[in-house]
Amino acid sequence: MSANEQAGGEAAERLVGAAADGEDLAVEAALRPKDLEEFIGQTRVREQLDLVLRAARARGGTADHVLLSGSPGLGKTTLSMIIAAEMGAPIRITSGPAIQHAGDLAAILSSLTEGEVLFLDEIHRMSRPAEEMLYMAMEDFRVDVVVGKGPGATAIPLELPPFTLVGATTRAGLLPPPLRDRFGFTGHMEFYEPPELERVVRRSAGLLGVEVTAEGAAEIAGRSRGTPRIANRLLRRVRDYAQVRSDGVVTRETATRALAVYEVDERGLDRLDRAVLNALLKLFGGGPVGLSTLSVAVGEERETVEEVAEPFLVREGLLARTPRGRVATPAAWHHLGLQPPRSSAGGGQDGLFGG
Ligand SMILES: Nc1ncnc2c1ncn2[C@@H]1O[C@H](COP(=O)(O)OP(=O)(O)OP(=O)(O)O)[C@@H](O)[C@H]1O
Ligand SMILES: [Mg+2]
Repeated sequence: MSANEQAGGEAAERLVGAAADGEDLAVEAALRPKDLEEFIGQTRVREQLDLVLRAARARGGTADHVLLSGSPGLGKTTLSMIIAAEMGAPIRITSGPAIQHAGDLAAILSSLTEGEVLFLDEIHRMSRPAEEMLYMAMEDFRVDVVVGKGPGATAIPLELPPFTLVGATTRAGLLPPPLRDRFGFTGHMEFYEPPELERVVRRSAGLLGVEVTAEGAAEIAGRSRGTPRIANRLLRRVRDYAQVRSDGVVTRETATRALAVYEVDERGLDRLDRAVLNALLKLFGGGPVGLSTLSVAVGEERETVEEVAEPFLVREGLLARTPRGRVATPAAWHHLGLQPPRSSAGGGQDGLFGG
């Protein structure tokens, strides 16, 4: 189970959490780009995929199986739908956790039509027997359907029409190599750059009928943690603020004021992130300090600090995990407007708090 799944409820409640919450699911369908042309950023994956799909279309055949990996909210589901649209093919959507038995998968596979796209979300969470059935289906477009039980059971081979499997995973490392190897193309989704997120915000604002200035869009983009889902969510909260407190136009000022209300700072850190940094800097002189001690100081569970707050702080270069404990970087001091101590290694607390 991934950190996101474990801390799912908690992460989803955060305004800057990358997992989808109920409102996201309701509006995302309307905000999804419909073709590759409309899909913003991910230049490399987009170009590679464009070639794969164009070549398949030119051959009049079915595209190779595609694996999309990357953090939540970066556009895996969106791209899978685009693949089907670009191929002019219908799409069937299911997920690893929904396939508990090989029979569940056999039922889906045997009802596919030629060229159909099968989207298997969270493919790393599929059961073992289903996985083995999938190997054969991907490679030979064939499954063995087992009829009966015990000694009398027989396997009936069933031919499948050629189809394209699109697998999505937030944890590519958890996929068994035989499964990974059966994908003809793997696209690794990266976090987005601020100018790309700015385009996401402007595009979404257009679809939602919200007026946004270039600076307003940039302000939201800078706080979105490289993630379009978060950019869209922040846009909706800023829009609410603009409607209630001003003339409805999203400017830099309304964005800044709205996100101050929601405690999301210029770098996209929220209350929890800043509480962790604050404790690390002010109580432990920048570390190193053990995770347990740090968590007690923040008043949060160990898991919450480790899985919800730290990944982004590490990614942003604000915090480092070392064998001796958590250490703040000079950027962390700078971000909270504090002076780093003269000895750059931290406050010499390691004897007391390390480990
Ligand atoms: N490249 C993009 N351009 C514009 N909008 C995007 C892009 N990528 C994602 N989005 C927006 O972000 C939202 C989330 O994307 P999506 O659902 O595809 O993410 P995901 O990678 O499948 O996330 P999860 O891992 O949680 O399933 C979509 O509704 C879409 O509007
Ligand atoms: Mg998805």
